[in-house]
Amino acid sequence: MIKTPFNWVGKKSKHIDLLSEHLDRDKPYVRFIDLFMGSGSLLFNVPITYHTGAGNDTIPLLSHIYQFLSWGIYLPEELVMAIYNTLEDWNWFGDKKLYYSFREKWNVEYISIINGYGEYKISPQFVAKTILLLKMCSNSMVRFNRKGEFNQGYRGCTKESFFNERSASNIGTDLLILSEELRKGNYNFTTRSFESFESSFHDQSVFMAIDPPYTLDIGSNGTGYGGHYNHEKDDLLYKLLNSASCDYVFFNYLSVGDVVNEKLMHIIENNNLQVIDISKQTSTGQKRKINKKVVKEVMVIKQ
Ligand SMILES: C[S@@+](CC[C@H](N)C(=O)[O-])C[C@H]1O[C@@H](n2cnc3c(N)ncnc32)[C@H](O)[C@@H]1O
Repeated sequence: MIKTPFNWVGKKSKHIDLLSEHLDRDKPYVRFIDLFMGSGSLLFNVPITYHTGAGNDTIPLLSHIYQFLSWGIYLPEELVMAIYNTLEDWNWFGDKKLYYSFREKWNVEYISIINGYGEYKISPQFVAKTILLLKMCSNSMVRFNRKGEFNQGYRGCTKESFFNERSASNIGTDLLILSEELRKGNYNFTTRSFESFESSFHDQSVFMAIDPPYTLDIGSNGTGYGGHYNHEKDDLLYKLLNSASCDYVFFNYLSVGDVVNEKLMHIIENNNLQVIDISKQTSTGQKRKINKKVVKEVMVIKQ
């Protein structure tokens, strides 16, 4: 299992084992597309046979970092050193004020990377700082303001410092393993909205992991993850799923309290899909109980 060191709300690492039990590992695909990549936990771990892997997410942060890591510009030791150097420079982050001034400096670097992508080289320090930032922010929620700056608050810390020797060493190990995987060269990354992959939904040589923001529990036009998702987008996604000829695994709520996800029910019945209940497992970060309502979360497989 490749444990990405980048925390991300809704990360699906804990469902990989169960998913593996229900997949035909030997069926060959040309492409595996993780359409709503987030941290990439599905992209790097779903045990199927494919030629190239594609990670996509409208938030450009990890797509950019993963693309750069895949080019193998840095020695693995440089990446690990950058983690320790950042921790030393910021006194291991015991104090909330340090988090906010760290976040401010990180934003300056991030904005220049986003604006100058293609020319600006991401540094090992930026990779290290991003890992630490996502671990320290509350709920691992990756949120940006209108100016494109990361604005999530601090998770809080009761000990003298947020990190210790052991956590730093674990982060280093996870980062090394991930960068080795990326250097194998079988991956590419994009930052498009999912509908631009429409033709892939009709391609039988494709397997997709489809893990969108969940909308069953949000208001009439709730905007999850940076405003790139709402009810209209959700309807469009279900339309694509309904006519899909590619194989896929799709994650969502089947019900929240009395409200049933009719669109998903329809797809399951129409396509005779495997349905696996994952609501008994620990929370995925998308809140298992919402306002005390019982939530049924599932992964459905077409293969
Ligand atoms: C539930 S998270 C995915 C978590 C991921 N499976 C993991 O294990 O880390 C949903 C992701 O969808 C992305 N997203 C939101 N709107 C999108 C869109 N229109 N097209 C593609 N990605 C989008 C968000 O940025 C977020 O990272």
